[in-house]
Amino acid sequence: MTNDIKKMDDIISSTMDIKRPSLIKRLFTINETVTENKVYLTPKIDVYVNGESQPDIKVEIKDAGLEEKIDSLAEYRLSKEPFYLTQNGESKLFQTAFEQKLPFMLKGPTGCGKTRFVEHMAYHLGKPLITVSCQEDLSASDLTGRIMLNQRGTYWQDGPLALAARYGGLCYLDEVVEARNDVMVLIHSLTDHRRILPIDKTGEVIKAHDDFMLVVSYNPNYQSALKGMKESTRQRFLALDFDYPSRELEIDVVKKESYISHSDAAKLVDFGRCLRQMKDKGLKEGASTRLLIYAGQLMHSGVDQYTAIKSAIASPLTDEPDIYKSIMDLAKAKW
Ligand SMILES: Nc1ncnc2c1ncn2[C@@H]1O[C@H](COP(=O)(O)OP(=O)(O)OP(=O)(O)O)[C@@H](O)[C@H]1O
Ligand SMILES: [Mg+2]
Repeated sequence: MTNDIKKMDDIISSTMDIKRPSLIKRLFTINETVTENKVYLTPKIDVYVNGESQPDIKVEIKDAGLEEKIDSLAEYRLSKEPFYLTQNGESKLFQTAFEQKLPFMLKGPTGCGKTRFVEHMAYHLGKPLITVSCQEDLSASDLTGRIMLNQRGTYWQDGPLALAARYGGLCYLDEVVEARNDVMVLIHSLTDHRRILPIDKTGEVIKAHDDFMLVVSYNPNYQSALKGMKESTRQRFLALDFDYPSRELEIDVVKKESYISHSDAAKLVDFGRCLRQMKDKGLKEGASTRLLIYAGQLMHSGVDQYTAIKSAIASPLTDEPDIYKSIMDLAKAKW
């Protein structure tokens, strides 16, 4: 670079017949032009001789008009590998679905590892992950985007589904059956061979990026699941039945996530597995891996075992005094 500048100054000095090259000054500027998902960097050098601008001296810069890609989904990339222990070939299945551009549905009880699995897969595929927690007010336009207003007028802002479809990434609709019906209609054209997302408000039709994958999850134990998903929607997805991890795996998960000993984790997991047998016999759902981890975390922080079981497991699981008592009796027998 220094050599280049020296050469440049020599040329200017000789063409302008300047005796003292120190009179030559250069002003470097870089113009930034941002287009849809690219930024163009255009470097420019203005020459001044003895303080006077020399617009006739044009300095050419090699590689001018450098183009840099903006990563529109940078904030959705996972920087740290999520801790996940594979249960039963689910990673391979998911990866194949991604490669084949097939949408994926995870079914399973709360707190059994669905979200963690999707995060793990996004990390391993090296793709961004946009997660949307669906609820009854979530509408199609929350997913596609909105027309916004600023000082310069109106502009279109992509919603999470449009972002993932346009730039390529995993879009995870958690508890999809909770969303409004227009959401289901919206995902139809994205989940069959067409892989398109029509944006009604602008008339644009987004052809999904090759790296786009739609992943949805729901808990079949919730009532709304039955009325929520039509056959025509269900039959667009590959489905994977998710469940609590096997005993040995769950012990490892609880141990790793709550820093308790192997034997303490084993006790908690066995206790959790007993409670799962009470499902439909008073409990709507068994104790999730998540709750077992909470109890382990409390124990690790010095909270006594009964208080930990009460506040992390018994109380979140039931409001029924009899069931609550049975859970605590079982805890007393175990510890
Ligand atoms: N196989 C696993 N490997 C590592 N951690 C796991 C695994 N399974 C479950 N977990 C743990 O269980 C916790 C709950 O999992 P997660 O949040 O993924 O549940 P979920 O199935 O998405 O629940 P919900 O339906 O309520 O959203 C995680 O924070 C994680 O610590
Ligand atoms: Mg989840």
